[in-house]
Amino acid sequence: MIALSGEGYLWVKALHVISIIAWMAGLLYLPRLYVYHTQVEAGSATSELFKVMERRLVRAIMTPAMVASWVFGLWMAANLDWSAGWLHAKLALVVAMTVMHVALMQWGRDFAADSNVRSTKFYRVANEIPTLFMLGIVILVILKPF
Ligand code: HEM
Repeated sequence: MIALSGEGYLWVKALHVISIIAWMAGLLYLPRLYVYHTQVEAGSATSELFKVMERRLVRAIMTPAMVASWVFGLWMAANLDWSAGWLHAKLALVVAMTVMHVALMQWGRDFAADSNVRSTKFYRVANEIPTLFMLGIVILVILKPF
């Protein structure tokens, strides 16, 4: 593992923040697409268009950004004190965010197979969850309260 210090650490942190912005954009946009997707007929031209948009968002943006967020985040963590409470709490919220990412991918597969059974309200609520995780994560990493 390449040790980081000074400017090298700041470059990795910059790449980390760029990655998490792209990941968060997808985590906030995809459930919104699902809200609209529940309101159109399965098999319709609009539904087929949503499928393309959802698939591209996951494959071209969300998943690469999630992997990059983890790689740059763990690289920095490997250069820090692992016993820090804020880091444990942050990692717990980031694992929860990753579970949400995987769940969103599974719901996308249901839409792609025209077999979604979840309601518009379900996806409206799901849309708020990444925001709550993000609030906790950013407060923990900036303030390091414990
Ligand atoms: C994916 C797994 C992640 C890991 C392993 C991770 C780990 C880390 C580590 C070790 C730092 C350096 C802290 C410091 O130098 O003070 C950091 C910085 C940061 N992380 Fe993450 N992080 C992850 C995901 C996220 C996510 C999802 C967000 C936001 C939603 C986020 C937001 C930030 C911010 C804003 C900083 C800069 C903090 C500062 O400069 O004070 N991270 N991260």
